[in-house]
Amino acid sequence: MTVGLWYSLLAMLDIYTLGDEILRERCKPVKTFDSSLSTLIDAMYTTMVEANGVGLAAPQVGADIRLFVVDVPDFGKRAFINPQIIETSMELSCMEEGCLSIPGLFHDVERPASVVVQAQDPNGKVFTVKADGLLARVIQHENDHLNGVLFIDRLDTVEQEKMQKAWQKRAKRRQSG
Ligand code: NI
Repeated sequence: MTVGLWYSLLAMLDIYTLGDEILRERCKPVKTFDSSLSTLIDAMYTTMVEANGVGLAAPQVGADIRLFVVDVPDFGKRAFINPQIIETSMELSCMEEGCLSIPGLFHDVERPASVVVQAQDPNGKVFTVKADGLLARVIQHENDHLNGVLFIDRLDTVEQEKMQKAWQKRAKRRQSG
């Protein structure tokens, strides 16, 4: 086994799932841009890639801070710290979403088609990204996590109930299996 693989195995973080309190918290701003923040970001990248995700927010791995990472084709890997969505398009788009914290469940969600987001990088430097398509989708989904919001909360009541039922069914199967 190579050193790189050892490292990635060690860095794999546990992902909290629906029902865990931390997913419902409003996360705190990041104030210190130090090596422990960089270490967390690296571990989040590894965890996201291992789980085949395109985005991962800090509360999903147990850290209640305003940070998420993405890995989107044609954009690549990027950490967004203290992100703020400063513009959203009037135009909406509908796309199927899933979440590493709600494995196995997917649903179409309507959101603004494009956004402008401002955030800080691991050194604290401010950057701005104008995003549309999948990137805009992932940014909004991950930003929601920092406010304790999950994609199922964006559905109408009937669909939310269906998702909750499907989740409970899966939970029962997990317990008996
Ligand atoms: Ni998610």
